[in-house]
Amino acid sequence: MRGACACAVVCALVALCAAAGLDEATRVAAEKQLLALLGLPKRPSRRSAPVPPIPRAMRMLYEASGAIPAAAANTARSYQHVPTELDARFPGEHRFRLFFNLSGVPSDEVARGADLKFHRATEGTGPQRLLLYDVVRPGRRGKTTPILRLLDSVTLLPGEGTVTADAIDAVRRWLLETDQNHGLLVRVIEEGQHNVDAKRPHVRVRRRATEDEEEWRSQQPLLLLYTEDARAREARENGESRLTRNKRATQRRGHRPHHRRKEAREICQRRPLFVDFAEVGWSDWIVAPPGYEAYFCQGDCPFPLADHLNGTNHAIVQTLVNSVDPALVPKACCIPTQLSPISMLYMDEHNQVVLKNYQDMMVMGCGCR
Ligand SMILES: *[C@@H]1O[C@H](CO)[C@@H](O)[C@H](O)[C@H]1NC(C)=O
Ligand SMILES: *[C@@H]1O[C@H](CO)[C@@H](O)[C@H](O)[C@H]1NC(C)=O
Repeated sequence: MRGACACAVVCALVALCAAAGLDEATRVAAEKQLLALLGLPKRPSRRSAPVPPIPRAMRMLYEASGAIPAAAANTARSYQHVPTELDARFPGEHRFRLFFNLSGVPSDEVARGADLKFHRATEGTGPQRLLLYDVVRPGRRGKTTPILRLLDSVTLLPGEGTVTADAIDAVRRWLLETDQNHGLLVRVIEEGQHNVDAKRPHVRVRRRATEDEEEWRSQQPLLLLYTEDARAREARENGESRLTRNKRATQRRGHRPHHRRKEAREICQRRPLFVDFAEVGWSDWIVAPPGYEAYFCQGDCPFPLADHLNGTNHAIVQTLVNSVDPALVPKACCIPTQLSPISMLYMDEHNQVVLKNYQDMMVMGCGCR
């Protein structure tokens, strides 16, 4: 009867971990289930080239346990300016057009935040003002002036570090009208004066002739896009805990994890289960972590149900009835009662590093239910 008690995540992972012993059809089915769980339409293609450098901002998010600074977002991506022939029209440091190609964002994702981060020039002075515009319609030389919409206005005070401007309104528009992305215009003016270009260094917007690619990569503006995917949105909107849903789904499908007979008599508790992505064959697209401790719950829920087994009143009653007549009802199930999320960095189809937080991936506590 404990067979119906595993959660879907662990079930799929266990099946994949034991891939060596599975026939191809089962392995494919297990992989498909896990990809669906991770919200990916298909497995990102096998990579032969080494993983490109992970942007520092993404690495920092990951190291902060995926603490995405936008409410409801569960996914983060970072973008750099894509150089185009238009760059030549902005030779100065005080006025520059930045273009970010967001075409790889899946259509089910909704933008929840977009931070454009600039590095201060080391000799930055201030006070100046950075103005960020969405280019709603580009101008045509000598014919029409561009239509710009102000997105953010940020005061630059002396000092180093980074400056963040909010680009969410432009990003929302680009995701709705993909062919209407004409970039962002950055202007830096003197603070307190009307429309006067900044005269001294402020933030880094374009590569200097003396700078190599490597140096510039750490200095260039970075757009951090935070989105919420359909799965996360659904889970949040109907407020239903994944835990109950997974449990019900599992029971419906009647999944039976493989139990080691020897442990059958042991009391319900959390047991180690390390999922190694290399073993599963996914280390080519999951950048970090290399694997994680998922844990699983297994064991007996004997009568009388002890307090530390986290039983509900219902489980206590069910256990009691079972002790009177085992044929009437099964014992309560040993299942995860508390789960926690993990963060993963992976490469998507477009070679883009994506950070995603996945709910309910790691067992924190087990109980008899
Ligand atoms: C944006 O990227 C996609 C693929 O990642 C590419 O097909 C497309 O041409 C790019 N668009 C621009 C304007 O660079
Ligand atoms: C019951 O839940 C608590 C808190 O989640 C946990 O620390 C404890 O280990 C759980 N009991 C068992 C048997 O796992």
